[in-house]
Amino acid sequence: MSLVKVGWSNAKLQIIIPTKSPKAESVQLAADDPVLEPVTASARVPGGDKTAGFAVYKKKCRVCHSNLKGKKKVGPSLYGVVGRTPGTLAGYRYSTAMKAFGASGHIWNAQTLDKYLSGPRQYIPKVKMIFKGLPSEQDRANIIAYLDSLDD
Ligand code: HEC
Repeated sequence: MSLVKVGWSNAKLQIIIPTKSPKAESVQLAADDPVLEPVTASARVPGGDKTAGFAVYKKKCRVCHSNLKGKKKVGPSLYGVVGRTPGTLAGYRYSTAMKAFGASGHIWNAQTLDKYLSGPRQYIPKVKMIFKGLPSEQDRANIIAYLDSLDD
């Protein structure tokens, strides 16, 4: 596990990166992004493949998430998640942390999903998704392409 700590206050993202972390490089690039990501609903990631993403979903996400509209499991439905304001699907009880993340102006898009899925609780401390993250950049690009296909 990397020791990357992410937190935010007053719309400033603070990322503390130990130089020895193997992930330091990619995370450091992300640190240059403003915390308020460009608000676009697009989740297109170059190189993402939705068929491969479906396999990732089945292996890593389906235990807690449905891909059917509005169907909740331990986690909220992932149907239509791209473009959703985090923590706002009606009928699901989110953590305070996830609701605050959405209320601070974020949206689920390629950038935020990539960071979240790298290490959910590193990116948003105290969320109730107990998942260590997808270390593979390719897996993340693929699942994001799959999530982007779950829409009307
Ligand atoms: C062990 C159960 C579990 C696993 C495995 C899991 N999740 Fe979650 N997920 C949750 C829970 C619980 C939440 C609600 C978090 C909160 O409210 O803090 C959540 C929230 C989310 C959200 C935010 C949704 C919203 O409406 O704001 C996304 C996106 C997400 N998960 C994607 C994924 C993906 C993609 C995978 C697979 C790579 C995955 N999750 C694996 C339990 C899980």
